[in-house]
This record gives sequence, C-alpha cells and structure tokens, in this order.
Amino acid sequence: MTFGQRFARAVTVTVVRVPPLWRVLRRPLTRNFDRMAPQWDALRVDARRLAAIDAALEAVDPAPARVLDLGTGSGAVARRAAGRWPGAAVTGADVSTGMIAEATRLADSPNQHYEVADASALPFADGSFDLVTMNNMIPFFDEVARVTAPGGNVAIAYGLGERTPIYVPLDRVRASLEQRGFVHVANFEVNGGLSLLARKRS
Ligand SMILES: C[S@@+](CC[C@H](N)C(=O)[O-])C[C@H]1O[C@@H](n2cnc3c(N)ncnc32)[C@H](O)[C@@H]1O
Repeated sequence: MTFGQRFARAVTVTVVRVPPLWRVLRRPLTRNFDRMAPQWDALRVDARRLAAIDAALEAVDPAPARVLDLGTGSGAVARRAAGRWPGAAVTGADVSTGMIAEATRLADSPNQHYEVADASALPFADGSFDLVTMNNMIPFFDEVARVTAPGGNVAIAYGLGERTPIYVPLDRVRASLEQRGFVHVANFEVNGGLSLLARKRS
C-alpha cells in the first residue's frame, strides 16, 4: 500500500472504533481525496473493483425510489444505481469537494444529484432513503441507520476484499448494523471483493 492508502486504513480502523476522532482526521483525509479526485475515476474505478457492490445491488428487493451513495467519490456506484433503477432519485454524497466536482462532471443521467456532505453528520431527514450504498467507504453506522427508511436496504462493499485500504471486516459491519435494527440478508464474494446486504426492520 502507498502512504496515502496506509493512512486511509489507519483512519478507518480508528474511526470505526472511536467515531468522535473523525473530527481531527477529517481534514487530512479529505485533502488526500481532493488531491486524487481528478485521476480517481481513471485510476481506481473498474469493473473488477465494482463486482462486489454489483452483486449486492443485484439482490436489492424491492427496487428503491431514493438511493444514497455515501463516499461516492467520482460517482461510479451512483451512476450504476441510476442506470439500474432509472425511476429512482440517486444522491451521491462525499466530503471531498474535488470528488463531487468529478462525480457531477461524469453524471450520465438526470436522476443523479451530487452534493458535499459528511457521512458522520448527514444533512438528510430520518428515513430519507430506501437504499444506502457504500463502496470502499468508512461507515458511520449511526447516521446510516438514521437516514435509512424502515424496510430499506444497506449495501456495503470492499472492492479488493481485505486488501482494500478502506476496509472493515464484514462480521463487524454485520454486528454494527444488527445492533441498530438491521437484519442481515447476505454476504457476497466476487472477484476478490466482499460485500454485504442488510435490511432495516419495518
Ligand atoms: C476510497 S474512496 C471510494 C470512492 C467511491 N465510493 C469508489 O468506490 O470509487 C472513499 C471516498 O469516501 C469519501 N469519504 C471519506 N470519509 C467520508 C465522510 N465522512 N463523509 C463523506 N465522504 C467521505 C472520500 O472523500 C472518498 O471520496
């Protein structure tokens, strides 16, 4: 792993254990992603890295009307969700203004919208989304649970499995979601990537 990737892993491990520490780590991590934003889509987004999140999206039932892609980066997963469910309103949120500029530039359908937002304190009302997705993103479980509608789904994936710089073991993800009223639906392992789908109790 590069220095930046090791830093992202250290931030992930720290913040999942002690979420308030995000306040001090947010600035350097965001700066890091702002720097990478112009090249992100070309260098870090490909079908292999997206296979695990695709598997989880394939299993989402029923089709969502409102989708939130957290840590959207250049918007790859938001674009996939918007293409898969053309009737859905898809929001991509990221703390990096550079990434949001890229995602907005690359948007390929009118049902996508991108905005700068911090996943630790989201500017959305409780239960605003039928599906929340996160690909290679640090999960802030309290906020994920708050903005997911009853009966809605959460899909979380790590495209390179345990080698993904931003990685949380799926048993930890599962336990954290179950503590917050979610039921585990399935785990997926595709092309070395790992993902999990869970549904919030109605
Ligand atoms: C490894 S990149 C993944 C980007 C995209 N999901 C993908 O698969 O290409 C992680 C992204 O999460 C964003 N991020 C990290 N912490 C965040 C937070 N608290 N709120 C919103 N976005 C965050 C970063 O700015 C970065 O764009």
